[in-house]
Amino acid sequence: MRLEQLLDIKLPLIQAPMAGAQGAALAIAVSNAGGLGSLPCAMLTPAQLRAELAVIRAATDKPINLNFFTHTSPAPDLAQEQRWRQQLQPYYQAYGLDADAIPAAPARHPFNHEMADVIEEFRPEVVSFHFGLPDAVLLKRVRESGSKVVSSATTVAEAVWLEQQGVDAIIAQGVEAGGHRGFFLDRDLNTQLGTMALLPQILAVTELPVIAAGGIADNAGIRGALAMGAAGVQLGTAFLLCDESRISEIHRQALAQLNAPTALTNIFTGGPARGLVNRVMQELGPIASQAPEFPLAGGAIAPLRQAAEQQGLGDFTPLWSGQNRRGCRAVSAAVLIQGLFE
Ligand SMILES: Cc1cc2nc3c(=O)[nH]c(=O)nc-3n(C[C@H](O)[C@H](O)[C@H](O)COP(=O)(O)O)c2cc1C
Repeated sequence: MRLEQLLDIKLPLIQAPMAGAQGAALAIAVSNAGGLGSLPCAMLTPAQLRAELAVIRAATDKPINLNFFTHTSPAPDLAQEQRWRQQLQPYYQAYGLDADAIPAAPARHPFNHEMADVIEEFRPEVVSFHFGLPDAVLLKRVRESGSKVVSSATTVAEAVWLEQQGVDAIIAQGVEAGGHRGFFLDRDLNTQLGTMALLPQILAVTELPVIAAGGIADNAGIRGALAMGAAGVQLGTAFLLCDESRISEIHRQALAQLNAPTALTNIFTGGPARGLVNRVMQELGPIASQAPEFPLAGGAIAPLRQAAEQQGLGDFTPLWSGQNRRGCRAVSAAVLIQGLFE
């Protein structure tokens, strides 16, 4: 089935959910422009999600995607946390920060029954997951609410697994993609393929619609992915400079440097994610062996980020970005989308 038919959208375009970078405004703009707007829910409480959904339902009657993380929450490891803070100690010292006074990481909760209650209440047309899928009981609750279920695969094995669990469509997330790798079966970064290598290999093993994500930034890129057999595309980075995006001025300026390198780093959360290379990535990583597991690493970095940002520096800021920023435009999402499909 065509993606447009499956998701009841005009254009074969999903705006990537981007936790920390956007809220209802971007999702509304994209859905009203004929794509599928997405709301990242990983950092929201159920009450915050209800409030965002009320705003969305008042502003559009078009389909919407709610996105959740499905990682396993690691047990806090005090010794590991101390080693991590030890490594950051010279920075704490330079900024006059007390390592012992720093609170734990901000919450990034995996999808749970409280969130499933919200799904049953609002019945979003699409629910997408990152890092696999929730357990069978939770997944059943989502399906029975009538939502179509989508998740990211970063390898052929993950695509096969997702199909076996009964998803409606698969996102092929190439290694060019900005933000977190959605991998969940194998944590070896060498298994991660570029979009052009991953897409045909996933298409070869599934009849499900496959959505290409990672490094797609313009109409030629979209045409290319569709010509290769993708049912649609999911773009994230291209939307980051849009008027409706919520990223900081520091992040905006960094994204405008088209040739600045990106890397996969675990420094900001503990899970590998692609962002523009900055000072802390250069000095400690980009992959730091002492960083606690996802999402725990972020707590120790947060006050450094805040202190540096007060001086106008992005030295400790996660500057999430895909490898291709040529599609980023400081215009409304509607204008950006028009350009992508003209
Ligand atoms: C700032 C940022 C935040 C992201 N956060 C999420 C998220 O919360 N959930 C998710 O499923 N994917 C997230 N992603 C990954 C996207 O779903 C998608 O794979 C990626 O943006 C596609 O590659 P591109 O950035 O090159 O377009 C994020 C990407 C970016 C750039």
